[in-house]
Amino acid sequence: MIVRKAELSDIKDVVAIHYDRFTGFFLSTLGKPFLMVFYKAFIKSNGILLVVEDEGFIKGFAAGSRSNRGFYKKLVKSNLFDFSVAGLKILFTNPAALKRIATNASKSAKNELIFAELLSIATVKNKKGYGKILLQEFENEVARKNIENLPVALTTDYDNNDKAVQFYKDCGYEVQEIFESYQKRKMYRFLKQSTNLKNKLNENSIRSTIY
Ligand SMILES: CC(C)(COP(=O)(O)OP(=O)(O)OC[C@H]1O[C@@H](n2cnc3c(N)ncnc32)[C@H](O)[C@@H]1OP(=O)(O)O)[C@@H](O)C(=O)NCCC(=O)NCCS
Repeated sequence: MIVRKAELSDIKDVVAIHYDRFTGFFLSTLGKPFLMVFYKAFIKSNGILLVVEDEGFIKGFAAGSRSNRGFYKKLVKSNLFDFSVAGLKILFTNPAALKRIATNASKSAKNELIFAELLSIATVKNKKGYGKILLQEFENEVARKNIENLPVALTTDYDNNDKAVQFYKDCGYEVQEIFESYQKRKMYRFLKQSTNLKNKLNENSIRSTIY
C-alpha cells in the first residue's frame, strides 16, 4: 500500500470514487466532467491531492488546501479556461447550481478563521484503514510547509453521518462549531491544532509513504 501525490492520470479514478461515495451530494450533481476539472485543478494549482494505491489500484483520495485564505478563488483563477467551459455547461443544465457555488464562495471568502483544510476524502469500502492512512498523510503533507502553524479543519454533515463523524473523532479532530450551510444544512466544523498534528516532517523528506 502506498500513499502518494496524485498525478493527472489518476484523476479518472479519483472522480469515480468521488461519484460512487458522494452519491447525491452537490459536487456529484455537477457531473463527472466538472469533477475532472475540479480535481485536476488541485494538482495544477496550490492544492493537495493525495491517493492511496493498493494492489495496483487507486483505493481512495484526500484533497485540500494549505490555507483557506482565498483558496477557491486562486484555484478557479489559475484554471479559468477549464472552469469556464465546465461552468458554461452547468449554466444550461443546472443554473441553480451556479448560484449555490457563488453563495458558498462568498461565505468562505468571509471566513475569519484561517486553517489548512481537508476539502474532500473518500475511499472504496475496505477493512484496511485506507481513510485513516490518507488523513494521516494529508496532515503530514500540510505539516511539511506549515510555516504559520495552522490547524487542519474540515466540515462534515451533522445529520445521518455517524460513520464519518466517528472517523474524524478517532483521528483526533474536535468539534470547533456547528453551523448552517446552504439551505439550512446543519454541519460540523472539526479542527485539529497543529501541535496535535503528528509526524511533522521537513521539506526534504520522502514524498510517498509505503505501508
Ligand atoms: C469516511 C471515510 C473516508 C473513512 O475511510 P475508511 O477507509 O472507511 O475508514 P478507516 O480508515 O477507519 O478504515 C476502514 C475500516 O478498516 C478497518 N481497519 C483499519 N485498519 C485495519 C487493519 N490494519 N486491518 C483490518 N482492518 C482495519 C477499520 O476498523 C475500519 O472498519 P469499520 O469500517 O468497520 O469501522 C470513508 O468511509 C468514505 O469514503 N466514506 C464516504 C465518503 C465520506 O463520507 N467522506 C467524508 C465526508 S466529510
